[in-house]
Amino acid sequence: MEKVKDINRTNGCGEIRKSDEGKEVRLAGWVSRRRDHGGLIFVDMRDRSGIVQIVFDEAEMGADAFDAAETLRNEFVIFVRGKVRARSEDTVNPKMETGEIEILVAELRILNKAKTPPFYIQDGIDVDENVRLRYRYLDLRRSEMQKNIMLRHRVAKIMRDYLDENGFLEIETPMLCRSTPEGARDFLVPSRLNPGQFYALPQSPQIFKQLLMVSGFEKYFQIARCFRDEDLRADRQPEFTQLDMETSFLSQDEILELTEGLIKKIFETALDVKVETPFLRMSWDEAMDRFGTDKPDLRFGMELQDISEFVKGSDFKVFTSVLESGGQIKVIKVDDYANIPRRELDGLVEYVKIYGAKGLAWIQYTEEGIKSPFKKFYSDETFEQIKNATGAKTGDLLLVVGDKASVVAQALGELRLEMARRRNLIDENIFKFLWIVDFPMFEYVEEEKRYKAMHHPFTSPRDEDEEFLLTAPEKVKAKAYDMVLNGVEIGGGSLRIYRSDLQEKVFEAIGLTHEEAREKFGFLMDAFEYGTPPHGGIAFGLDRLVMLMAKRKSIRDVIPFPKTQSATDPMSHAPGEVDEKQLRELSIRTTVKKSAQQ
Ligand code: AMO
Ligand code: AMP
Repeated sequence: MEKVKDINRTNGCGEIRKSDEGKEVRLAGWVSRRRDHGGLIFVDMRDRSGIVQIVFDEAEMGADAFDAAETLRNEFVIFVRGKVRARSEDTVNPKMETGEIEILVAELRILNKAKTPPFYIQDGIDVDENVRLRYRYLDLRRSEMQKNIMLRHRVAKIMRDYLDENGFLEIETPMLCRSTPEGARDFLVPSRLNPGQFYALPQSPQIFKQLLMVSGFEKYFQIARCFRDEDLRADRQPEFTQLDMETSFLSQDEILELTEGLIKKIFETALDVKVETPFLRMSWDEAMDRFGTDKPDLRFGMELQDISEFVKGSDFKVFTSVLESGGQIKVIKVDDYANIPRRELDGLVEYVKIYGAKGLAWIQYTEEGIKSPFKKFYSDETFEQIKNATGAKTGDLLLVVGDKASVVAQALGELRLEMARRRNLIDENIFKFLWIVDFPMFEYVEEEKRYKAMHHPFTSPRDEDEEFLLTAPEKVKAKAYDMVLNGVEIGGGSLRIYRSDLQEKVFEAIGLTHEEAREKFGFLMDAFEYGTPPHGGIAFGLDRLVMLMAKRKSIRDVIPFPKTQSATDPMSHAPGEVDEKQLRELSIRTTVKKSAQQ
């Protein structure tokens, strides 16, 4: 094996072009593939810039050097010196960026050998994700993963540049914080120096960034790691990254405009994708009504439509009882799918039940007439009215759910997405942005019998709704906004409360007593007494944004070292047990038996 000496690379493998013909190049990288043709060996050589074909010709380089080339295996690390030559016309590979040339090797050095990797280092592999995570360092060597991580770098760089140009300061906030109620579950860190006491890892820098406004920094940002002990999904990780921002003296419109500009810059610079601003702004109520969700995917239609007025007052008990108890009957229209197989309909019934619906009905407007489980309860005229009102044509299918509004929204909202996937209605090449505004201030938590802040308890209610805070909290709307892209919430923020009397009132509305509020947030309420500017901000989920830009389905593909669904790392085996001594130092004892932890 060679010592590293004067490698002096001249080029990246993927950068060499026809115009370099005749030049001597010095390359370092990995063996991606080797093909042996007797006295000729072809190797695809890879580094982070791409792949180039290198050629070992026994006649040119002599038997000794050629023997070394014969020992090359996939993933060996090599240095080569050689001359760029044009490939003959019949051997040009138009699929490779370097496909017009190859390198005739004059000198080879093997810098390191490699074991056979557990999977091929190439794009589009079909390998269990656990295996990929176990050997993440190899997974990350694959070009598609390298591109994702490079894109992430570029996005972060554009963010920093844009915000710097707009007067923002990058300021760090602590990782070891005070645990505060509200929000998700905290990750706790025991304090050795303060036995029995715990820090919490930040769920976001929320309180600190507001304090920075009290301090007078006016425009803050941070690319901040956040920690939330939640159940994981494809777009949720226990630790994730936010672009976190806060500003003083700006109105909601100014904040939305500023961040639209940021997103526009990111897409245009990193992807060369044109983004039209301003984005559509839709109230939370309208989004729930039309799409059944506060993060609508606008890449396709299939909106929820209310048919209550046509089906009320009939003998069909299912609908009449829903309507009598204040519910609604809504449909989505699936174009050209009246002939849906019965088996699929039965499957859809089960599908909506996952989302709390008690059942699913349908109207099939077929060439042979109408098919519907409630056909006998209504006249042909009613079905015709529904057809007209929903814009259905012969050949279309309506899927119907009746229930209280929240169940209809969830069931039909999810069914809308599912049918769009099944019917291939989603154009993966477009980006549809919008703002959701006018969120409800509170949501009612049935299990706890109390209201909870929908965004967080530092969010300001709308001025005109302040009077209802304690009397009719369900009526109060917040100065909060989410940015949604292709059905994913990529950012959320709000204007904040900056008066301590109003903050206390909101704490009271969510059932925190004065004493509890003081004990948890006293420092914030104190700070607000010393001249707090009106302020507000937003945080973007960097992982989600990059995932969508890279057209991936999971944020794990844009995070170098993510956790599995069960919040573990199959590579380093985190979380793991610690020894008794460490626990003793922290004054901690676990109630879990050793064997049960395995
Ligand atoms: P919020 O809780 O809405 O707001 O978070 C902001 C954005 O962070 C992303 N996000 C996540 N990404 C990956 N995994 C997770 N578990 C996860 N949770 C959230 C989302 C989300 O839109 N402090 C406020 C912001 C503010 O008011 O300024 C906050 O954290 O894309
Ligand atoms: P059931 O009385 O439960 O047998 O329901 C009769 C028909 O009504 C079923 O075949 C369904 O098509 C429909 N149905 C039942 N519950 C609902 C519901 N919540 N929403 C829409 N349709 C329903």
